[in-house]
Amino acid sequence: VRVFVPRDTTALSLGADAVARRLEREAQQRGLELTLVRNGSRGLAWLEPLVEVETPAGRVAYGPVAPSDVPALLDTGLLEGSDNHPLAQGLTEAIPYLARQQRLTFARIGVTDPLSIVDYLAHDGFRGLEAALTREPQDIVEEVKASGLRGRGGAAFPTGIKWQTVLDTPADQKYIVCNADEGDSGTFADRLAMECDPYMLIEGMAIAGLAVGATQGYIYLRSEYPLAKQVLDAAIARAEAAGYLGDDLRGSGRTFHLEVRLGAGAYICGEETSLLESLEGKRGLVRFKPPLPAIEGLFGRPTVVNNVLSLAAVPFILAEGAEAYANHGMGRSRGTLALQLAGNVKRGGLIELAFGTTLRTLMEDFGGGTASGRALRAVQVGGPLCAYLPESQWDMPLDYETFAEVGAGVGHGGVVMFDDSVDMAEQARFSMEFCKVESCGKCTPCRIGSTRGVEVIDRIRANQNRDANLALLGELCETMEDGSLCAMGGMTPFPVQSALKHFPDDFQRAPEGDR
Ligand code: NAI
Ligand code: SF4
Repeated sequence: VRVFVPRDTTALSLGADAVARRLEREAQQRGLELTLVRNGSRGLAWLEPLVEVETPAGRVAYGPVAPSDVPALLDTGLLEGSDNHPLAQGLTEAIPYLARQQRLTFARIGVTDPLSIVDYLAHDGFRGLEAALTREPQDIVEEVKASGLRGRGGAAFPTGIKWQTVLDTPADQKYIVCNADEGDSGTFADRLAMECDPYMLIEGMAIAGLAVGATQGYIYLRSEYPLAKQVLDAAIARAEAAGYLGDDLRGSGRTFHLEVRLGAGAYICGEETSLLESLEGKRGLVRFKPPLPAIEGLFGRPTVVNNVLSLAAVPFILAEGAEAYANHGMGRSRGTLALQLAGNVKRGGLIELAFGTTLRTLMEDFGGGTASGRALRAVQVGGPLCAYLPESQWDMPLDYETFAEVGAGVGHGGVVMFDDSVDMAEQARFSMEFCKVESCGKCTPCRIGSTRGVEVIDRIRANQNRDANLALLGELCETMEDGSLCAMGGMTPFPVQSALKHFPDDFQRAPEGDR
């Protein structure tokens, strides 16, 4: 019997290794036949460690499993897929949280053994690359354009148009750089993609290389993801050995090499130009744009810089055709979005859905409300640089344009929930403080503005010259928005202004201790 115990960072941090050891030991003591597969996570973080058992009807799930649950699970028929235990979840694919999703990019996570190429091929892997190898570069770019795919890092720039710029720029060397410096609060989709389905990213990058004429790729990975580093390094070595990377891709004579480079813990290195500086071995300082990286990027050469999820969407598009991707979504937001439910939530995890769903569906139907059981009060979507949304905005469709209209952002799809004990003035202060800590220091509105922002909010919270300080905070936000060089300083005002606009009462009272 094949039994699956995930080996991604979430499951490991919740004790998956101990569960796997206990299962093996108990099975041995009882003389039971059991083949342990260390799969990736299904993204149902609230059920991790999620143990699955293969049965004739399909895979059956149990979770969250602690090592001490193992004997009772075996007693009640775990190996037969019995539902005779409180942790039994039935058929994995029928768990509503999973069954209601539209998994195009994350179709394989948790299903396969992440490092098995055989498994990857058996689940449609490398079909996109094989297709790309038979097509002209312009043709590949057209397919990506037709899919409507937009940058999933947060800026939502059309991926095909970015690739076109790189394809059209003549150079002796071009690069594909994957931005895997996933730094937004509450986000983990890039990590899941890399740890649970690394060949998907490798395939997407190789296709990008073929499309624009780049022979070298780099994955710029945040150092806080050591397991992703191990998995990617091992997957790259295996892909090379199998001819999916290297000098002669599948006998085509085409070349694409790939390496992983580690960041050093700076949020700003997720900004594409400081990422390139860091990749070149320099301090992560933001560059002026223009020139765009697509024209003068890494080492001054034309460079595609794409987020993990943008590149990970590409194999599906090449394998199934642009239309299959574009058929999902609404308006100009085509395809699916990987939402990551986190913060004060009962059932956190990865939810891949076509654009057009609502925050209420996510937070209530999927998330089951708050972990604390208290009423939901606010939600921050898109990371620390995006707005806090009050209940009146939880029913609008999730797509780039609708969100932009109300001054909100979809960003990288992080959804962080807060209950009614949250102090939104403190959250506003945190936004400024985050910017103060993470600013690269190149421009004054951000470097100095964020420090002043913390001080002004402190004065407001302490009831000192409230009206004058509120006016000052408004002006400061305007200056940061208009005068900053990049999104770090330019967007920090958004969470602050949204907190002021939607939760003004929180700025009326003195902080705890001073009351
Ligand atoms: P941007 O709007 O300046 O650029 C978007 C992308 O399109 C860039 O790669 C740019 O080089 C490219 N581009 C623009 N015009 C082009 C053209 N004509 N040809 C080819 N390429 C072109 O946005 P930026 O500053 O890169 O990103 C800001 C976003 O990043 C924010 O919306 C924020 O939500 C997001 N963000 C994401 C984080 C994460 O962890 N994923 C962290 C912080 C911010
Ligand atoms: Fe650096 Fe902040 Fe200016 Fe961006 S806005 S360039 S992070 S100082």
